[in-house]
Amino acid sequence: MDLGLREKNVLIVGASKGIGRGIVNGFAAEQCRIVAIARSEALLKEVKEEAIQNGAASFSYEVVDIMEEDTTALAQSLLDKYGVFDIVVHNVGGSLVSRNHLGGAEDWNYALKFNALAAIDMNSVLIPPMIERGSGRVIHISSISAVMLRGNPLYASAKAFLNAYVTTVGRQLAPTGVLMCSVMPGAVAFEGSYWDKFIQEGHPRVEDFLRHHQAANRFGTPEEIANAVVFMASDKSSFMQATNIPVDGANM
Ligand SMILES: NC(=O)c1ccc[n+]([C@@H]2O[C@H](COP(=O)([O-])OP(=O)(O)OC[C@H]3O[C@@H](n4cnc5c(N)ncnc54)[C@H](OP(=O)(O)O)[C@@H]3O)[C@@H](O)[C@H]2O)c1
Repeated sequence: MDLGLREKNVLIVGASKGIGRGIVNGFAAEQCRIVAIARSEALLKEVKEEAIQNGAASFSYEVVDIMEEDTTALAQSLLDKYGVFDIVVHNVGGSLVSRNHLGGAEDWNYALKFNALAAIDMNSVLIPPMIERGSGRVIHISSISAVMLRGNPLYASAKAFLNAYVTTVGRQLAPTGVLMCSVMPGAVAFEGSYWDKFIQEGHPRVEDFLRHHQAANRFGTPEEIANAVVFMASDKSSFMQATNIPVDGANM
């Protein structure tokens, strides 16, 4: 299927490893112009080499910690430097936040900012020029935890908030030509991932988790998540608006 993404201007926030790196390679194979953000410059240099080899029309990166940076100023500087993006993917997030469900606002704010608010703040600057142009794609990486409401409460709640944002704001955007959605991965394994060390050790937790929670009986790969993201970034997804899409190996 020709997705028609050649030369599209793509911003990927959280692009140095794991699912984000898979997403970079997905857009590289579509010959996109890629701008990548992460904290590790060493990893971004590796990703650049990989992306160019895989066909990216261009690859630029910015070394930024979005938890420390003024994210509206960051978004404005990206627009000034790279122009209006055709596609924005917000991938930063994760469950490595406080697990204290009785924690106070500081813990909950951190989880919310990491999984949703930093991206929402950037959207406040990145989306208006897309609306003016009448087209754009904004894709958030959520989690199946958002709907299963299982695991770390702060993480699951933050992703559920993100899903509600995607549905409600996505509906407001639908008539403008800007499509917003999220992709909700189930458990994904890759070198250095949370599950990787348990898999390497042959830990019984792995079999137990898969048997009880992932009917496909295996972990997903970054490429399988990237496939859905790249499809959602294309015109082929034009009627799939304001939706949260599971890619989860039949999570249960
Ligand atoms: N892995 C899973 O099983 C799974 C399942 C469901 C949902 N998800 C979601 O998928 C997304 C990616 O997960 P992942 O497992 O691939 O995570 P990961 O391995 O931790 O990668 C996260 C990416 O974001 C970057 N990043 C993290 N903090 C950042 C910050 N403060 N500023 C800028 N960049 C930052 C990281 O690069 P640097 O470290 O270089 O900054 C990395 O490129 C997350 O939103 C997660 O909630 C993952």
